[in-house]
This record gives sequence, C-alpha cells and structure tokens, in this order.
Amino acid sequence: MQSYQTFLSEILIDSDTLQRRIAELGAQISRDYEGADLLLVCILRGGLVFMVDLMRHITVPHQIDFLAVSSYGTGARQSAGGVRLTMDLATDIRDKDVLLVEDIVDSGNTIAYVLEFLKTRRPRSLKVCALLDKPERRETPVPIDYCGFTIPNKFVFGYGLDLDEYYRNLPFVAVVDLDKYQSSGNKA
Ligand code: IMP
Ligand code: MG
Repeated sequence: MQSYQTFLSEILIDSDTLQRRIAELGAQISRDYEGADLLLVCILRGGLVFMVDLMRHITVPHQIDFLAVSSYGTGARQSAGGVRLTMDLATDIRDKDVLLVEDIVDSGNTIAYVLEFLKTRRPRSLKVCALLDKPERRETPVPIDYCGFTIPNKFVFGYGLDLDEYYRNLPFVAVVDLDKYQSSGNKA
C-alpha cells in the first residue's frame, strides 16, 4: 500500500476543526441526555475513531457497544445497496436511550437498515449521530439528530473512513483523487 500523499486531492476537514466540532457535539449530547440511560452504539468499522473521541466529551454516565454491518460491493465507490448485519450487539437495548455513532451517512441505506432492526428491540429512544453527511447521495431519507459536518459529493478517507480498508488512522478527513488512486493500481 502506497502512502496516501500519492492520491490526496485535498484535506477537507483538518484535525483541529474535527476536534472542536466533536467537543461541541459531546457537550450538546451531554445536555440532551441528562438523566437518561445512554448507550452509544458504534457502527463498525468507520465509526470507531469518532466514537472514541466523542465519548471523552460526553459528561453523563453512559455505556458503549458495537455492531458491524457490511454492504455489498467492493472498491472505493461502493454503494450500500444491500446491507447485512455481521456482528450484533452484546447489550440488551430494551428501555435504553440508544445513540448510533456513524462515520458518514451517504446513501442512507446503512442507517435506515440499522434503525429498522434496532427499533424492534424496543429501546426507550433511538437517535443518530453522524460525523459526516453527504446529502447529495441520499437514496433513503434518514433522520440525523447530531451531525458534525455536511460535505459535498466527494469520496473521503481518514478519521475512521477507509479507502479499501486502509488509512482509517489519519487524524483528518481527506478527499481522494480517484484518477490518481486508480492509476496507482487500485480498483476504486
Ligand atoms: P450508506 O451509503 O449511507 O449506507 O453508507 C455506507 C457506508 O459507506 C458508510 O458507513 C461508510 O462506512 C461508507 N462510506 C460512504 N461514503 C464514504 C466515503 O466517502 N468514504 C469512505 N467510506 C464511505
Ligand atoms: Mg466503510
């Protein structure tokens, strides 16, 4: 795997900007969930980095859990036409205040699917916190209760988001130059 600089188009959201906004979201969630029985549910793998930073700004007592979904298709421009659960929660969410933590809402299919099956387990409340929203790509309308940033229709990586499973560790959100990415031997 080559270094990301080979196909970096631009840094869309730098680390300081991300951290400032995440602190604001944490403060807002702390106010809204005062007295609640909050369970943060990270949607793996993209939501991991965001949740780890977000939870350190949440001052109300809360639990965390993880679930994993996968979407059909491969390559950088895959769309989540079909979504399936690959790892379920360990927590019984009945009567809990569940907040889903997701990296990005793109087509909306992933969140729509997760909301639908979690609803059947009767949580007390069920809301969505997404770091990024790409509204131009929406196929399924979904509510986003807490949104970090609205971004244009560009493929991004870093800060939890992957390019073919790499580069999730980068501390910023960057736009990939798909022509350069493909011409350096990737399928995209
Ligand atoms: P959905 O299309 O809203 O179902 O999003 C499905 C998943 O695709 C998200 O949870 C992300 O993990 C991934 N995804 C969507 N857009 C991007 C992107 O620009 N970069 C990296 N991953 C993305
Ligand atoms: Mg992903």
